[in-house]
Amino acid sequence: MITVNCAPMFTIKNHLEIRNNHLVIGGVDATELAERYGTPLYVTNESRVVDNFSVYRKAFPDADIYYAAKANGSFAILRMLAREGAGADVFSYGELYMALLAGIPREKILFNGNSKTNFELQKAVDIGVKVSVDSRDELHTLSEIAQHREKTIEIAFRVNPDVSPNTHPKISTGLRTSKFGIPAGDVVNIYGEAKELPGISPAGIHCHIGSQILDTAPFKEMAEKMMDLVEKVTALGIELKFVDFGSGLGIPYKKDESAPTPYDHANAILPVFRERTEALGIAPKLIIEPGRYIVADTTILLTRVNTVKKAAKNFVGVDAGFNLLVRPTMYDSYHYAVVANKAASPSDDTYTIVGPICETGDIFAKDRELPHVEKGDLIALLDAGAYGFSMSSQYNGRPRCAEVLVKDGEADVIRSAEDFGDLLAKQKLPARLM
Ligand code: LLP
Repeated sequence: MITVNCAPMFTIKNHLEIRNNHLVIGGVDATELAERYGTPLYVTNESRVVDNFSVYRKAFPDADIYYAAKANGSFAILRMLAREGAGADVFSYGELYMALLAGIPREKILFNGNSKTNFELQKAVDIGVKVSVDSRDELHTLSEIAQHREKTIEIAFRVNPDVSPNTHPKISTGLRTSKFGIPAGDVVNIYGEAKELPGISPAGIHCHIGSQILDTAPFKEMAEKMMDLVEKVTALGIELKFVDFGSGLGIPYKKDESAPTPYDHANAILPVFRERTEALGIAPKLIIEPGRYIVADTTILLTRVNTVKKAAKNFVGVDAGFNLLVRPTMYDSYHYAVVANKAASPSDDTYTIVGPICETGDIFAKDRELPHVEKGDLIALLDAGAYGFSMSSQYNGRPRCAEVLVKDGEADVIRSAEDFGDLLAKQKLPARLM
């Protein structure tokens, strides 16, 4: 007998499925989750986070994987990754604080950032985490702070390697003109300077060229340029303990799009790293910092249809806005949309899914073929786990929604929804306005 697999492209075994025409995540019916917890609602499948992390670990067996906490800093996610042995790339004291509380050891944390405050640098020294230094100013401030505390801090320099990653300009981070890092041509001098500075131990080198990268060639180019610098820095007599290549691997948001896997990422950079370190007779630890790949496809944003309006387009007005998922508005990014209560029904028309925010750009999905959409339907926006909740706001007087974690058919709230009191929570009136 010939069986034809006609499951829609977005189903992923043991993660997203369709049962009785409903979308199911981690064994739980999305329509039941929406009934139980209300909408909008972020839903993350715990097993998928762990599985994605383990793919990275297998692809880079000898490297340390520092999860980029900015992608999704929810405490439960940091906690499960800590248990899997992840380190963390943190970009603020807030992220450092959360990563440590979640159980990520300080030895496996790199404090990144192009404009750190003195307070943040003091915290880094006091706690004893490695710092990726982004400027000469920062180097000298850090040296003074460390000296004052009679400590020595291990640093890397964030290098700007001038590599085009072929991704959205707002998330290209290693172009010559971008704000991050020390220009490649200045790197050797600054290591020379750092070597002589009290309180500073130059121990690593770091870069990150961008995010949502769908071609492995820029990773290879970056690795080659970085290893040229490793050679020059080693020649200064500096023993590099770690080389951090950042990350940036993209995922296929469009389901017919092909994206490299962590193994492709590894094939692009590991041979360069191995050959060059062997030739130099050095053995630094390789660090990589994936964020998006670990969490993006683990999470859906469930949102209820408030109105359907036939105008220039078929506008579907939902109860989530760009305050909860800003990526489409900010980067014109694509998120696959599923009518969760009609997940396997044939499409009948083209719809544009919009949020309730008072801005024309509040659009989640343009001109999508969907089954007949009506008020009360439930829309799932897929791949919302990376830079989704972590970039949310209360814009337009909208409290943030809840987050639920599902695993093997069970669901737990990992963040309660804010209420209207939270809109006022930290605000104060001067006496004259009472
Ligand atoms: N390391 C550093 C130093 C980074 O700046 C980033 C991301 C990462 C690691 C993680 O990169 P990933 O593996 O997630 O690509 N909000 C944007 C993405 C901004 C990425 C910023 N840096 C988006 O929604 O597409």
